[in-house]
Amino acid sequence: MQDNSLITAAGVPMPRIIYGTAWKKERTRELVVAAVTAGFRGIDTAGQPRHYAEALVGAALADVQRAGVPRESLFVQTKFTPADGQDPENIPYDPAAPLEEQIRQSVEASLGNLQTSYLDSLLLHSPFNSHVRTMQAWQTLEELYDSGRTRQLGISNCYNLDVLKSLYGDARVKPAVVQNRFYAQTGYDAPLRQWCAENGVIYQGFWTLTANPHILASETVRDLAIKHGRSEAQVFYRFLTQLGIVPLNGTTSLAHMREDLDIFSFALDMGDMGDILRLMGF
Ligand SMILES: NC(=O)c1ccc[n+]([C@@H]2O[C@H](COP(=O)([O-])OP(=O)(O)OC[C@H]3O[C@@H](n4cnc5c(N)ncnc54)[C@H](OP(=O)(O)O)[C@@H]3O)[C@@H](O)[C@H]2O)c1
Repeated sequence: MQDNSLITAAGVPMPRIIYGTAWKKERTRELVVAAVTAGFRGIDTAGQPRHYAEALVGAALADVQRAGVPRESLFVQTKFTPADGQDPENIPYDPAAPLEEQIRQSVEASLGNLQTSYLDSLLLHSPFNSHVRTMQAWQTLEELYDSGRTRQLGISNCYNLDVLKSLYGDARVKPAVVQNRFYAQTGYDAPLRQWCAENGVIYQGFWTLTANPHILASETVRDLAIKHGRSEAQVFYRFLTQLGIVPLNGTTSLAHMREDLDIFSFALDMGDMGDILRLMGF
């Protein structure tokens, strides 16, 4: 496992920074191999061909295993994407089938694509409009957990704390992860993140760089970059990890991969952390 992993409430080692594979298209295989070679051990994908080439992620994972990286050292996370998040022309399951069957078909397709017998983490890509429907999906995910297809479950794009609490309350297998867009429009999910911290749910953030150019361009972060001799992106990623957030990282640059994995070789002090928190309005 990549250095600096944490253990989730489900007992699964999870790297503190994860490589995201969205929008890599035909470059997916080469970039995932490069990311693992650079030192990433966490890989995020989805059963959503509109945005992710999951089979190429699997081809890359097979490549790196042939090169000597054991499957057990990798954290492989994918998602079941409900039909309204799919390209209607390219859905990895039968959208006319009952929801339970859609999920089973999607996860079997993901396991095939990823050339693995188990996932480390399986996320529901978004809650449904009704709690009843979300729980209907969740119970199928729980069956997949019971059968060993995945070592933990999680939810993504869940910005309403009441929705998360209801899911958590009714789930037999509790969500170990929430994966949300980390941006100003949701107030950076502050109450939701607080609740996650209190309940042992790990918060993964996506679009951490793309949604926050104002933070990266700020004088505060620029000064901290100078102070620590690092880039602005490194400072912000280090800040996030020190808050307990696991950032997803979507770089296509080998230099950025190496740079971002190096964030654990320095630390921000309380004053530095406070400066960035104030900049974000806290
Ligand atoms: N659950 C969901 O609904 C959902 C939605 C969106 C994304 N995601 C996940 O989140 C992952 C990351 O998303 P993202 O690619 O939008 O966000 P990101 O990692 O915040 O942004 C990546 C962009 O930032 C640039 N960048 C500049 N300096 C960088 C540095 N030091 N390190 C990394 N990137 C740097 C990259 O350019 P270079 O390529 O030139 O480095 C790239 O254009 C996705 O791949 C996916 O796995 C999930």
